[in-house]
Amino acid sequence: MTDDTLNIPRTIRWQNGELILLDQRRLPADEIEICCRTVDDVYDAIRTLAIRGAPAIGVAAAFGLLVGLREWEDEPLGREILRRAAHLNSARPTAVNLGWALDRMVRVTRAVGTALYTRLEQEAQAIFDEDVASCAAIGHHGAGLIGEHCRILTHCNAGALATSGWGTALAPIYVVNARGLSPHVFVDETRPLLQGARLTAYELMRSGVACTLITDNMAASVMASGIDLAIVGADRVAANGDVANKIGTLNVAILCHHYGIPFYVACPRSTLDPAAATGAGIQIEHRHADEVTMIAGQRVAPEGAEVWNPAFDVTPNELVTAFITDAGIVTPPYHFT
Ligand code: MRU
Repeated sequence: MTDDTLNIPRTIRWQNGELILLDQRRLPADEIEICCRTVDDVYDAIRTLAIRGAPAIGVAAAFGLLVGLREWEDEPLGREILRRAAHLNSARPTAVNLGWALDRMVRVTRAVGTALYTRLEQEAQAIFDEDVASCAAIGHHGAGLIGEHCRILTHCNAGALATSGWGTALAPIYVVNARGLSPHVFVDETRPLLQGARLTAYELMRSGVACTLITDNMAASVMASGIDLAIVGADRVAANGDVANKIGTLNVAILCHHYGIPFYVACPRSTLDPAAATGAGIQIEHRHADEVTMIAGQRVAPEGAEVWNPAFDVTPNELVTAFITDAGIVTPPYHFT
């Protein structure tokens, strides 16, 4: 399988000092790119999910630090990078890749005295390249878990659109599909923002992977009718293996446990957060009520309805059959350091 096997528009491009992002708010109807020329453009793109998915957010933030600064002298540049890093880090709290990538850029800023812009651009490119390589490694490691004609359930979007490469949860599926093993993917639509319906179904269909879209409340029925395994991504994994991922992941994990279906979490090592001892230490983002009361701009709930809208939930480690990482398959007990 090569990078061109997938027929999916590029998520992130860095071109002549400009950050160009596929606007994922507009998918699947419109394939439109937006150009971030200021750090506020980058902040808004992350905050409003024009770019989303843990690895992609990290890469976008690394390049995003640099927009508009190409002509700056080293010393004011360094100060501006530190200011911007703090700002971008506040765009979304749950995906650890955001802070992880910004920390790498800050370390370079503090260590390098001259030719700082060039050195920072190299670091952002390295973060991008490592993400591409991690996705491929996850794909090859995870492919060993998938037999011929497997029926696989996934939640949210942890595919190419969420990374710089083939994705995390979807990478093993792309690899086995390229090998002719004919996987069939059941895609949770993933309310409230429909990343499954809008993004996962879109990228699987464009890549020639057989898939069936279901609403989230159909997952139990589809499992009862026969699912071989579930694979999801992660936004942050605590030292003990508790997993923060898109709201509804916990439902999938509990259902898998009930039906005896393997539940795999695919993620690069950059998504592991040893500083969080357990999932209780992970900050969960809460988002605007409109995401629940409206669908595609249409109100579906009474005006003023009280809403609870956490963007992520935490799946306890005992429900995770194994992690598919870029370094290989990790089975319990989990101790990430
Ligand atoms: O709110 P989102 O769309 O950024 O949430 C994305 C997810 O939860 C993904 O599963 C996770 O970031 C892994 S992406 C490889």
